Amino acid sequence: MEPRSSGVRPMCALTLLLVSVCPLCCRANWMWLGVTPPDDPEQLSCGDPVLSARQRELCRRKPFLLPSVRDGAQLAVSECQNQFRRERWNCSTTREPTAVFGYELTSGTKETAFIYAVMAAGLVHSITRSCSQGNMTVCGCDAHLRGSGGSETASEAWQWGGCSDNIQFGTWFSRKFMEHSVKNMSSLTSYTLSTMNQHNSEAGRQAIERTMSTECRCHGISGSCGVKTCWRSMAPFRRVGSYLKERYEQSIQMSNRSRKKTRKKDQRRPLNKHQLIYLNKSPNYCLEDKRRGIAGTRGRRCNRASSGPDGCNLLCCGRGYNTHVVRNIERCECKFVWCCFVRCRRCESMNDMHTCK
Ligand SMILES: *[C@@H]1O[C@H](CO)[C@@H](O)[C@H](O)[C@H]1NC(C)=O
Ligand SMILES: *[C@@H]1O[C@H](CO)[C@@H](O)[C@H](O)[C@H]1NC(C)=O
Ligand SMILES: *[C@@H]1O[C@H](CO)[C@@H](O)[C@H](O)[C@H]1NC(C)=O
Ligand SMILES: *[C@@H]1O[C@H](CO)[C@@H](O)[C@H](O)[C@H]1NC(C)=O
Repeated sequence: MEPRSSGVRPMCALTLLLVSVCPLCCRANWMWLGVTPPDDPEQLSCGDPVLSARQRELCRRKPFLLPSVRDGAQLAVSECQNQFRRERWNCSTTREPTAVFGYELTSGTKETAFIYAVMAAGLVHSITRSCSQGNMTVCGCDAHLRGSGGSETASEAWQWGGCSDNIQFGTWFSRKFMEHSVKNMSSLTSYTLSTMNQHNSEAGRQAIERTMSTECRCHGISGSCGVKTCWRSMAPFRRVGSYLKERYEQSIQMSNRSRKKTRKKDQRRPLNKHQLIYLNKSPNYCLEDKRRGIAGTRGRRCNRASSGPDGCNLLCCGRGYNTHVVRNIERCECKFVWCCFVRCRRCESMNDMHTCK
């Protein structure tokens, strides 16, 4: 038996306190599950204050999904930070469960669009993975893919086999879990933050389907492809993240005025469900803005040789940068010594590090 961790989750305690003190003003957000570090799974419960009343109700009906919800949220937060690690806005999270990503959670900008898309996709991905691993009774592999696939010619014939990822259940759950009050998008007259979030969440779910691929394995004699089986597989989440990052870069600004006035424009450029949309222009993220929870780029590490967003010029918004010399100590020249250990030397190197002024 493993000793139980006696550490209390301080953030969780804080959340409980906040919510019990002021239940109305601080509506926590489920995305917070992706920010708190992985801890004792036994502390995860459907009564978690970061869930809304509706989410708690859904959770109580399907409590076995809660670990996947948390895993999906963590996957999404870390992928958001990976995709934006070189940019001025780096997807950093706040210390408050109500804000999670700070200003960006509710600003209605491209960044809000990315957050909702990646979070919705994270849920689909982690629930589907759990289905495919046989951890759930309510879902499993895709049973529709059976028999032979490919072309008729014998040389290219193959059989469906193994476990094809079945994203139906995960997609359904992600929708249900993140549902907003507005249900019928086609009867909208204008975009609001809520409908924008709903659209972008759906685009995130679609991204899982769009990045799926068919993978095959040969089982012939000595590596020949006499028998080939194939299955549908979700892309690694990193690939989904890159796909959504491209969508973010091509995202479209929608007017939040009545749609009637902009109908002509909309018809010229029909919106499809894979596009990310936003309402408000993003700030430049250069300077700290405490009121909006923007960190600014002061102190961020930049790359002097890069002309991309992580280059000192762009990242520091032309303010210039400081150069520090940092001493690195590493294990090096490791040798295997018979038997059985590895002996290394300590190597020291001096490197320049640049940080924004
Ligand atoms: C984002 O940048 C801020 C400084 O502006 C830094 O404190 C924070 O650790 C960074 N977050 C991530 C996730 O890299
Ligand atoms: C499935 O269950 C096994 C054993 O309980 C666990 O190790 C694994 O992490 C689970 N997989 C997912 C995706 O939840
Ligand atoms: C959405 O609203 C439109 C127009 O009001 C209506 O025709 C359509 O049937 C509705 N769809 C759903 C799913 O309720
Ligand atoms: C809608 O647009 C106006 C300007 O046209 C802007 O001031 C307002 O913040 C926008 N509302 C939302 C919810 O984004």
